[in-house]
Amino acid sequence: MEKLLLFITFFSSYFTALSFGKNQIEALSHLYEAKLRSNSTIDKSHFIASHNFLGTEVNPQNEMKERDRIEKLPGQPPVRFKQYGGYVTVNQKAGRAFYYYFAEAQHSKESLPLLLWLNGGPGCSSLAYGAMQELGPFRVKSDGKTLFKNKYAWNYAANLLFLESPAGVGFSYSNTTSDYEKSGDRITANDNYIFLLNWLERFPEYKNRDFYISGESYAGHYVPQLAHTILYNNKKVNKNVINLKGIIIGNAVINDETDRRGMYDYFASHALISDGTWNKIQKYCNFTADSSEDSDECTDATTEAKRNVNSIDIYNIYAPLCSNTSLTDKPKKASIENMDPCSEYYVYAYMNRPDVQEALHANVTKLDHDWEPCSDVIKDWGDSPSTILPLLREFMANRLRVWIFSGDTDGRVPVTSTKYSINKMKLEETTMWRPWFLSGEVGGYTQVYKGNITFATIRGAGHQVPSYQPARALSLIKHFLGGTDLNSSRQ
Ligand SMILES: *[C@@H]1O[C@H](CO)[C@@H](O)[C@H](O)[C@H]1NC(C)=O
Ligand SMILES: *[C@@H]1O[C@H](CO)[C@@H](O)[C@H](O)[C@H]1NC(C)=O
Ligand SMILES: *[C@@H]1O[C@H](CO)[C@@H](O)[C@H](O)[C@H]1NC(C)=O
Ligand SMILES: *[C@@H]1O[C@H](CO)[C@@H](O)[C@H](O)[C@H]1NC(C)=O
Ligand SMILES: *[C@@H]1O[C@H](CO)[C@@H](O)[C@H](O)[C@H]1NC(C)=O
Ligand SMILES: *[C@@H]1O[C@H](CO)[C@@H](O)[C@H](O)[C@H]1NC(C)=O
Ligand SMILES: *[C@@H]1O[C@H](CO)[C@@H](O)[C@H](O)[C@H]1NC(C)=O
Repeated sequence: MEKLLLFITFFSSYFTALSFGKNQIEALSHLYEAKLRSNSTIDKSHFIASHNFLGTEVNPQNEMKERDRIEKLPGQPPVRFKQYGGYVTVNQKAGRAFYYYFAEAQHSKESLPLLLWLNGGPGCSSLAYGAMQELGPFRVKSDGKTLFKNKYAWNYAANLLFLESPAGVGFSYSNTTSDYEKSGDRITANDNYIFLLNWLERFPEYKNRDFYISGESYAGHYVPQLAHTILYNNKKVNKNVINLKGIIIGNAVINDETDRRGMYDYFASHALISDGTWNKIQKYCNFTADSSEDSDECTDATTEAKRNVNSIDIYNIYAPLCSNTSLTDKPKKASIENMDPCSEYYVYAYMNRPDVQEALHANVTKLDHDWEPCSDVIKDWGDSPSTILPLLREFMANRLRVWIFSGDTDGRVPVTSTKYSINKMKLEETTMWRPWFLSGEVGGYTQVYKGNITFATIRGAGHQVPSYQPARALSLIKHFLGGTDLNSSRQ
């Protein structure tokens, strides 16, 4: 692996062509930059489900479930739940297959819901972040080969499915490598949908189970687009082919204009940039959706802002940086409560071990590139709507439960962005803005809106909320899945 570029600029304006970096910090910025160029060819129109897939790509999955059973991951402590991992073909003709990792619930797996988690990027792996650094049952120690338990794993609340998508991300691949040049929101949603239909054939006991989709960051696109595709196809055959009940997205990219404005507002209100810079940004930048390239005055002001924030982890503004990326012979003392800022390097080492790949049933076709937290083979992104707010409105009309959460120390897709986006929807409030509690402390703030939309902040959490506030994140998902409001009483 080339060294992860964690310390360098998160905007990395010196990349001329759109090329995805190796971590979440870069992937999203590359897309934004490409979208904002005046000569951008990225399709920013509204997302609509493309066609009816039923019957076309659903294949028999007999005995594949047992074949996917993971006896034990290398270096894993003993656990009582079952794990599975393997490939699901999403397009036979192209030879396109998605890798999934599934951790059954720690208890009551027959009754708890099925929860899918997606990371964003675009191009970042749900195994790299969600499963191995955030809400999965294990975390990797600093030796890069042993695992320790996450006592706040979300499979205490659900049967938990992680998916690497689209093709080119992590272990997911296409034998038609030109597919990597056709990546974008639409193909991702289509393939994710076909994945789900086939996965449910392989795990038929989950077919009628309550189903929820969760994710963070650019999954603010993926999650609603997949939900929309499910609703569209359910309606087409007038049957709950997939029993979708709700979605939950965190620090999510949902509306370009407010996402951008809210980011600079956060920089200013957290004293990361000067008032002078902020005034210039407000005066010269026009964040209106689909506006053409920024003026020179605006670019100068935003460049000033970038210079000021480049030396911190903008995804968690108070977090320490990783100062030594080497693995250690003996694992350092590991803690779920205190996220090690070098975790990404441990996970990279672990996932690239041949014994780990064998145990996971991954990389069976011996891919010609290594496993990366964010894809290196996806070079272009063809379509990315400037807003997904219309999809959220559609879900309200369809009685889906929609939760939007925000770790309040993330500066990249911060709480201000999310609040501006929600304000744009002009929702009717059904409760007051109020603190919510966990173990006698304020876990964050919440407000419920008419039509089953809940907004919740998580106090002291960065972009990867379950990494930094694992107990609060678990409380959040339990209330979401349980259909209850966050706890309003301190005791
Ligand atoms: C757009 O312009 C930039 C320079 O501003 C150039 O590097 C890039 O190749 C152009 N992209 C397209 C799609 O023409
Ligand atoms: C991709 O090609 C390899 C090698 O021919 C083959 O084993 C594999 O099954 C193909 N994958 C898909 C999804 O068809
Ligand atoms: C911002 O851009 C939009 C779309 O290009 C335009 O309609 C609007 O007038 C602009 N606003 C300002 C303040 O320049
Ligand atoms: C980084 O950590 C490794 C392993 O613990 C150690 O051998 C090395 O000396 C450290 N490097 C620096 C610059 O501290
Ligand atoms: C797959 O295996 C090959 C051969 O062992 C290895 O070189 C490559 O890095 C692996 N790729 C991934 C994505 O795991
Ligand atoms: C809210 O969602 C629940 C299921 O999660 C549903 O029973 C209820 O009808 C929904 N309410 C509204 C107003 O849509
Ligand atoms: C709220 O918190 C209290 C104190 O921890 C707990 O006893 C109660 O069960 C919680 N209520 C809900 C709905 O989670």
